[in-house]
Amino acid sequence: GEALRVGIAGLGTVGASVVRILAEKSAELTRQCGRTISVTAVSARDRNKDRGVSLEGIAWFDDPVELARKGDIDVLVELIGGEEGAAKASVKAALEAGRHVVTANKALLAAQGLSLAEIAEKKGVLLNYEAAVAGGIPVIKTMREALAGNAITRVFGILNGTCNYILTRMEQEGISFADCLADAQRLGYAEADPTFDIEGHDTAHKLSILTSLAFGTRIAPSAIYMEGISNITQADIRAAGELGYRIKLLGVAQKTDSGIEQRVHPTMVPTASVIAQVHGVTNAVAIETDILGELLLSGPGAGGNATASAVIGDIADIAKSRPGFQHGPVFGRPAKELAPYRKAR
Ligand code: NDP
Ligand code: HSE
Repeated sequence: GEALRVGIAGLGTVGASVVRILAEKSAELTRQCGRTISVTAVSARDRNKDRGVSLEGIAWFDDPVELARKGDIDVLVELIGGEEGAAKASVKAALEAGRHVVTANKALLAAQGLSLAEIAEKKGVLLNYEAAVAGGIPVIKTMREALAGNAITRVFGILNGTCNYILTRMEQEGISFADCLADAQRLGYAEADPTFDIEGHDTAHKLSILTSLAFGTRIAPSAIYMEGISNITQADIRAAGELGYRIKLLGVAQKTDSGIEQRVHPTMVPTASVIAQVHGVTNAVAIETDILGELLLSGPGAGGNATASAVIGDIADIAKSRPGFQHGPVFGRPAKELAPYRKAR
């Protein structure tokens, strides 16, 4: 078949990894998808920055909205970040132009997921976002596809790699909070503004997406009780250890008789529990259902390669999809049918 033409907006940690891996794995992906995946256009702010990848023969756009509208592309891959600005404008423009979108942007989905899903579903295009929650862990596909028929009662886990990396190194190596955070930034784990990580916003964005998938409700990030890890000290970690616990930043969503409860906060988990064994940048998501019981997924939660793996999986799904095929709804059921969010009392 004809090549799938991909436009990549954002060439930072994730975008540059996606470009590099698509080039390195080109032959393998062509075999798997039955057609070539070809990066035809890119956009970032600084045209002269060395990104460690070859952009030869690829069209450059200073404006990602131009790329979304006029680029020679079938898919826009948005890896800019942020819930407003260029990310939102380019995703919206691509969907409205009838182009598929892949994004890793949980802040955007938490804020605009419902309206973007409505556009995608009206236009009959895909809006794929596997990388937006728990990095390389295929949790969106699991919840949207593999758990069909299951009634989910609770979903919780470690959803921020930066925070888990900080807490792990503070405990294991006695390194200060500030030094751990600086390392997480250097390794490409942290958000552009790391307060989103350490104050719990990023976990809340991801949890709000999982909640919508789990319970068929509209995304409601503002309903989440939220507390981050910036006040956690070495003394807290030691005291928890002496009592037989580890401190983890958890996101928890569950169904109660009065509505849905969503919260993000540092939690003491028993040292012997499975979730306490999740170290460093690893994430873990536990899903409890009526048919299956408890499912636990764990794996790399942040960083260029982990995130690119999920992004490329989403691109490959589009390459394999048949033209004219009616795609499944973005959040598991049609956006128009998502129930209003009812917060537990
Ligand atoms: P970076 O900050 O490393 O990269 C952002 C990129 O966007 C840069 O290349 C930047 O250009 C470009 N950019 C910023 N503003 C504009 C604009 N107005 N027009 C065009 N390009 C622009 O971010 P990450 O790669 O870390 O993250 C990208 C997305 O992926 C975010 O939504 C993030 O939340 C998400 N994500 C990140 C993960 C990670 O581990 N890093 C994991 C999962 C999701 P320039 O380089 O020229 O400055
Ligand atoms: N900053 C995020 C984290 C990136 O540390 O988990 C992955 O979404």
